[in-house]
Amino acid sequence: MSEAYPVIDHTYDAIVIGAGGSGLRAAMGIAESGLKTACITKVFPTRSHTVAAQGGIAASLGNMGPDTWQWHMYDTVKGSDWLGDQDAIEYMVREAPAAVYELEHFGVPFSRTEEGKIYQRAFGGMTTEFGEGPAAQRTCAAADRTGHAMLHSLYQQSLKYDTEFFIEYFAIDLIMEEGECRGCIAISLEDGSIHRFRSHMTVLATGGYGRSYFSCTSAHTCTGDGGGMVLRAGLPLQDMEFVQFHPTGVYGAGVLITEGARGEGGYLVNSEGERFMERYAPSAKDLASRDVVSRSMAMEIREGRGVGSDKDHIYLHLDHLDADILAERLPGISESAKVFAGVDVTKQPIPVIPTAHYNMGGIPTNYHGEVLSPKDGDPDAVVPGLMAVGEAACVSVHGANRLGSNSLIDLVVFGRAAGHRVAELVKPRQTHKPLPDASADMALDRLDGFRFAKGASPTAQIRLSMQKTMQNNCAVFRQAESLAEGKDLIDQVFGQMADVGTSDRSLIWNSDLIETLELDNLIRQAVVTMHCAENRQESRGAHKREDFPDRDDENWMKHTLTRVSDTGEVKIDYRPVHDFTMSDEIDYIIPKARVY
Ligand code: FUM
Repeated sequence: MSEAYPVIDHTYDAIVIGAGGSGLRAAMGIAESGLKTACITKVFPTRSHTVAAQGGIAASLGNMGPDTWQWHMYDTVKGSDWLGDQDAIEYMVREAPAAVYELEHFGVPFSRTEEGKIYQRAFGGMTTEFGEGPAAQRTCAAADRTGHAMLHSLYQQSLKYDTEFFIEYFAIDLIMEEGECRGCIAISLEDGSIHRFRSHMTVLATGGYGRSYFSCTSAHTCTGDGGGMVLRAGLPLQDMEFVQFHPTGVYGAGVLITEGARGEGGYLVNSEGERFMERYAPSAKDLASRDVVSRSMAMEIREGRGVGSDKDHIYLHLDHLDADILAERLPGISESAKVFAGVDVTKQPIPVIPTAHYNMGGIPTNYHGEVLSPKDGDPDAVVPGLMAVGEAACVSVHGANRLGSNSLIDLVVFGRAAGHRVAELVKPRQTHKPLPDASADMALDRLDGFRFAKGASPTAQIRLSMQKTMQNNCAVFRQAESLAEGKDLIDQVFGQMADVGTSDRSLIWNSDLIETLELDNLIRQAVVTMHCAENRQESRGAHKREDFPDRDDENWMKHTLTRVSDTGEVKIDYRPVHDFTMSDEIDYIIPKARVY
């Protein structure tokens, strides 16, 4: 064991890494079942990225008109471009109303209708009558600060239980023994002390890796730490080629302007003042799914109809809406538009551009949250002791493209499911097998390697190269040449990690060292994303190949499972998409052309 770092030991029945919506909901459920539970989080829980979710959480409550879970399921399957696992999707949409009512009882201050019911707004791709009827108002909202309201309520609730929070602790790596996860090694960012958390079950709730892109709506903390740990453990990530670009990031700042703005009647125009979405999606128009709207915007810009002096963005109009409605339902983005674009939304359009927003891919799991790694011909074999939830996970309910407001429901439904599963699998105070002395070595060797790295490439420089490469070569439109170039470039960037030089070596927040550990998580996922994007020779959901413009169900209706070694070798395997539902109350939704 490393002698440089005394290790402080902790023993729990279960640990959760991450304290956003999914992590808090999982931790709460596990603690409620009587298990000794720790939640390890690199930021204070209410600063987790769930706080930034704006427009709402999807559930077929039917408060604003008829709605059913079957219609929600149809829309989600179609939104996923038939890459989502239909058993998991059925589970999510059926559980969604109960999950929202649970949040209401937890104290989430939802906006209200005149009759006092939870207010629901329209969101992209959400329809009625299996796509044949008008738009569904399915997205339950707390003004445009739904994630903020949820996160605070969940944190307050979680304090009712005995979860022990380790706040501002950064998980360096998992402890893996003979294919089983036995806990993790973490560093306290306050004092630099090293901690070994031994547990029967480790739940990764570490969020996405949005910061691998130059322009994204993700917080600086979204560095995909769970995905990085999983790759270093030699396990695969799933469907990493599918990266969602949100149509309305503020031009130049990346800050999110909620889709709820279009749900309330906002619309996009090009330099000719044309509402161009009518051409691309005649039925859903501005409320088509995000991949469709983002691509349409990119086409307008590419064809010279962008706005601004460089004709490189699009306008979002809200100025026709009643100022009182804007103040009541969209106060947060009204403020963001003022601060980040200098725009008064009651008078001027907001300059917007598609911006990296969400990772559909992630750590493969079943709908209980158990991590999958195919073994002995079983594509759904689980990794003992390891679970994942939230954006870190790929259940897969979002497939090739997530519908807006399906991520908040994913967090709470699968956070809760994971809590139940842990309670089934782990008994309170169950004996722990002894851990080998060397159990912390891999994590501490890695820490030391970066701490004393004296190479010529500063962390910030490598990170910028990664972000620019992802932005330039793996964005809304993709094709063979730029992906091949992107693969070379991103592999070179990964190679530079061997030549990294850290300046501030302190074991605390914001040091060069901690940012290097985060970068190591990001770059591995960036490599996998680029390789998977080059590999998938079809267009599906957010993955649009100009050289393979059509969806190819015969050859590509399958999940990609990808590993990368420490030296950059990428290995791609496949897993079948689940072509079955969970119950006989709905049939498998047969693939068809996806038009809005
Ligand atoms: O547009 C939004 O409010 C984002 C919601 C989401 O990504 O689900």
